[in-house]
Amino acid sequence: MIIEPKTRGFICLTAHPTGCEQNVLSQIEYIKSKPTTEQPKKVLVIGASTGFGLASRITSAYGSNASTIGVYFEKPPSEGRPASPGWYNTAAFEKQAHKDGLYAKSINGDAFSNEIKEQTLKLIKEDLGEIDLLIYSLASPVRTHPNTGERFKSVLKPIGGTFKDNTVDFHTGEVKEISIEPSSGDDIKNTVTVMGGEDWQMWIDLLKSANVLTKDFKTVAYSYIGPSLTEAVYRKGTIGRAKDHLEATAFKITDTLKDIDGKAYVSVNKALVTQASSAIPVIPLYISLLYKVMKEEGIHEGCIEQIERLFSERLYANEVPLDTEGRIRIDDWEMRDDVQAKVLELWKEATTETLPSIGDLDGYKTDFFNLFGFNVEGVDYDKDVNEMVDIPGLQG
Ligand code: NAI
Repeated sequence: MIIEPKTRGFICLTAHPTGCEQNVLSQIEYIKSKPTTEQPKKVLVIGASTGFGLASRITSAYGSNASTIGVYFEKPPSEGRPASPGWYNTAAFEKQAHKDGLYAKSINGDAFSNEIKEQTLKLIKEDLGEIDLLIYSLASPVRTHPNTGERFKSVLKPIGGTFKDNTVDFHTGEVKEISIEPSSGDDIKNTVTVMGGEDWQMWIDLLKSANVLTKDFKTVAYSYIGPSLTEAVYRKGTIGRAKDHLEATAFKITDTLKDIDGKAYVSVNKALVTQASSAIPVIPLYISLLYKVMKEEGIHEGCIEQIERLFSERLYANEVPLDTEGRIRIDDWEMRDDVQAKVLELWKEATTETLPSIGDLDGYKTDFFNLFGFNVEGVDYDKDVNEMVDIPGLQG
């Protein structure tokens, strides 16, 4: 079939297999251009199909020949209906990994559930015996609690007062003010239940009790801080509370891993266009300006560059450098004073008329469509493509 982008708000309902494959192959090429490393060797990535999780899987496999198991929640294709992009990404990754003699298997289902955790444990026991790295890179708007069956929804709201500032509709380029009402009722608790650290801890507890974690095992979850411009909706909003909880959980997990000299880290990553971040108000305008500044400075990175640097210069450095709160910082270039000062200046000038020249709206849009395999260089979108793609290492 011929597959075209069909967007609705900040999501795209279709995905292109060839474009997704091309994106994955480019990320693999990037990692292959870097020196190989000794570690990690046996890796479980939760949230492995897109964004930072996919980049973590590719970095592990192609940076140190690691065996990888990926867990994700993606929609398979049906006749005439393309799959979600993470499905095509995973298919492309596993196809290439198998060609290159790398172990790569995956599980598609709800990572919050006991069933998927048990299924993953079984696969680790049968195939790998143990793992030395677990990357926790879930981004989900909902979580059904495995013990109670209760379904929680996360919200992106400020706490304590109404938020008013500009944002951009990146499809039309219109810069306009938005107003978001503050959280109420159980909004904070619900968001922490979905995006906080409880599920991460549950994964580790299960795998630890089954003795499948190596000595010196590491686990990393991803967080974000960002500038004062976005803090009312992000770091000081409901999602920020969830990230506080995630960060506090890292210390708890490290305690439970003491006897195997294991460590849990939170890595604070850079703001990037992913399916998760395009849903957050204000972030698209911030990212458009940030991209412009970082590209001009020659310090722009995508997910794969971020994770490559995280692995080689932080996680597997002789000593893992941490900030005063005990977090890994790979958002260091984004948060540079000169970068933030420039973004703040541009923010004040940003209007529908000025944004195309002072911001990188085109870069934002390209990245957005790329997430779904569209606007990828070298792909002929007029060519018929088979939507029914299999994932070679898919279990179950
Ligand atoms: P993403 O939307 O690209 O990836 C989310 C992953 O989670 C996908 O693999 C998806 O299949 C999986 N997933 C979602 N719900 C699931 C479920 N119930 N069961 C199994 N898998 C499920 O998101 P992104 O942006 O890569 O986010 C990953 C982490 O990085 C999040 O914790 C996010 O807060 C953090 N982060 C993101 C930043 C950004 O700018 N995008 C910046 C810094 C941190």
